[in-house]
Amino acid sequence: MNSYKIAHYPGDGIGVDVTAAGLSVLEAVGEKIGGFETEVTHIDWGVDYYKRHGTVAPEGFIETLKGFDAIFLGAIGFPEVLPDHITLEPLIQTRQAFDQYACVRPARTFPGVPCPLVGVEGIDMVVVRENSEGEYVNNGGRFHPGTPEEFAVQSALHTRRGIERVLRFGFEMAGTRRGKLTMITKSNAQRYGFVLWDEILEEVRADYPDIQTDKQHIDAAAMNFVRRPTDFDVVVASNLFGDILTDLSGAITGSLGLNPSANLNPDRRFPSLFEPVHGSAPDIAGKGIANPVAAILSVAMMLEWLGEHAAAPPIREAVERALADGCRTPDVGGRLTTEEMTAAVIERLG
Ligand code: NAI
Ligand code: MG
Repeated sequence: MNSYKIAHYPGDGIGVDVTAAGLSVLEAVGEKIGGFETEVTHIDWGVDYYKRHGTVAPEGFIETLKGFDAIFLGAIGFPEVLPDHITLEPLIQTRQAFDQYACVRPARTFPGVPCPLVGVEGIDMVVVRENSEGEYVNNGGRFHPGTPEEFAVQSALHTRRGIERVLRFGFEMAGTRRGKLTMITKSNAQRYGFVLWDEILEEVRADYPDIQTDKQHIDAAAMNFVRRPTDFDVVVASNLFGDILTDLSGAITGSLGLNPSANLNPDRRFPSLFEPVHGSAPDIAGKGIANPVAAILSVAMMLEWLGEHAAAPPIREAVERALADGCRTPDVGGRLTTEEMTAAVIERLG
């Protein structure tokens, strides 16, 4: 039997509730579908760890994570306790150290969940966010702090290799879907980095003649996500733009609580990381009402990545059936708690 070592890293706020939900589904699918087993190790890093140790993750945390087959993360951050740029640092470091350059974020509407956009049905897109460089490289500095002359420099870093590989990843994915790729930049205003994206797109698209290729600037894309969301199939964007667009793709499908993600190291040299797109939602933390669907669907993505192809579809079908049957948490207009919603999904497994 295949056996996988999973790091369970709930993090902060609702990350705790939704990863508990995801693990219950993982366990249930293991029992009902079978064929694999998991060894789950709990990781207690985050703001509570900070209160005890003065850091959000221990030194050498990358080495610790290296030993796992996959990482299942909830969300990190609790701005009341600690500024986000400190809390989120381990996540950004993990994505970069493990070269998880393709952040795959599907967004779709579900029967039973009202789409907030009037008259829109059938959104089904995947945003592939460049996840290893771009605007999130730790590159810059603060000068003359606290003086009237103070200034900050923060430079993005776009490499030919980084752009090309994420575009190829997007093209391959488009080939397994509706055959359309839209690249998002701001090359009309950022003439170095994003013009390089434009040039590499022209080179790479020649290798994928069957894929319909399009490009949009981020401002137009933000409008079109709202105006014509069903036009999008695979969307490839830089780190920052992919981050922003996937809160939007979540919102237009009904709730961020529905959108899973996979931070993939496609060459499999390092573990990949699976997490909901959403954050720790301090506004509803501790209330037991977070939507577990994003985390549960992240488990499906994790199993698929690990090669358990029989285990992922039943999870997706159970989620679909539960939502279609009217089982919903408050963010999508229902009354169920996180635990009740999770139970509704498990009931419909297999
Ligand atoms: P957020 O995604 O946590 O919440 C945005 C809104 O969506 C809130 O109203 C929240 O209640 C709602 N929401 C999100 N997930 C939900 C769910 N599963 N069920 C029901 N409602 C849900 O974003 P926000 O408020 O900007 O950030 C909160 C904290 O999370 C910050 O510290 C931020 O830095 C961190 N964050 C961490 C991420 C990560 O660990 N990957 C990703 C995004 C934000
Ligand atoms: Mg985000």
